Amino acid sequence: ATTLGASAAAKGRYFGTAVAAGHLGESAYASTLDTEFNMVTPENEMKWDAVEGTRNSFGFGPADQIVSHAQGKGMKVRGHTLVWHSQLPGWVGGLGADDLRSAMNNHITKVMDHYKGKIYAWDVVNEAYQDGSSGARRSSPFQDKLGSGFIEEAFRTARAADSGAKLCYNDYNTDGQNAKSNAVYAMVKDFKQRGVPIDCVGFQSHFNSNSPVPGDYQANLQRFADLGVDVQITELDIEGSGSAQAASYTKVVNACLAVSRCAGMTVWGVTDKYSWRSSGTPLLFDGNYGKKPAYTAVLTAL
Ligand code: XIL
Repeated sequence: ATTLGASAAAKGRYFGTAVAAGHLGESAYASTLDTEFNMVTPENEMKWDAVEGTRNSFGFGPADQIVSHAQGKGMKVRGHTLVWHSQLPGWVGGLGADDLRSAMNNHITKVMDHYKGKIYAWDVVNEAYQDGSSGARRSSPFQDKLGSGFIEEAFRTARAADSGAKLCYNDYNTDGQNAKSNAVYAMVKDFKQRGVPIDCVGFQSHFNSNSPVPGDYQANLQRFADLGVDVQITELDIEGSGSAQAASYTKVVNACLAVSRCAGMTVWGVTDKYSWRSSGTPLLFDGNYGKKPAYTAVLTAL
């Protein structure tokens, strides 16, 4: 096939991108999106601060814009994200434990209910673990006030809200085997053993020279898949350029294709022009929507 989405689909996978609602009116942005991708993740528009800046007052305008665009073009949507320490409005951190618990469950329920039937998978909890060798949870209002059970509670609430969406745990620096991914692995194993609803694990896969594609990337994806969950590459971008960048992208695609439960890959943006890595060129299309060597490498590997 001649596009990323169609080629991935021929292998039973999806190929997605993060999308910002504010760029949908740019014709080259929209046409590249519509031509190449068959999954979208709102880059910021579904985050807590974007949809519930004031307690129990929900606004979905920009997120709805992305979802209806995607649906109109036959693309699926990943929901990102329900419970995260970042891009969290200040009022959440000010709540006491009982209020925070009800606010968390209300947020999950209301947001998922609004999008019921329209979301392929939700990142229910994002980035709950620390970097480094401890394997410990990251400090956050949820962790600090509700304790380690907040993740289980979030997943149970999410399943009750929309039983048709896959429920994912998503994190970064978990792409290879290390203390952080070991801790996530132990959590997923425990959830599967105890029947806590979890369907997928997202590997953000933000790579750069300090954090290249790990040599055991495929093995790490496989060990999670072997727990009985799908694995997804959720926020892929790779700093660099030219053939070195292309070769790294090839490794990622090959790893996903080698793991039967790797459901698909999402790059974290359509074009280098709008990458969150503003100093970098980590994506598949350059600032003029030209196809980079990395694009050709991905298409060839798919
Ligand atoms: C980033 C967005 O790309 C930026 O536009 C925003 O300013 C900050 O968040 N991990 C995640 C994503 O799960 O939501 C983050 O997205 C990148 C890191």
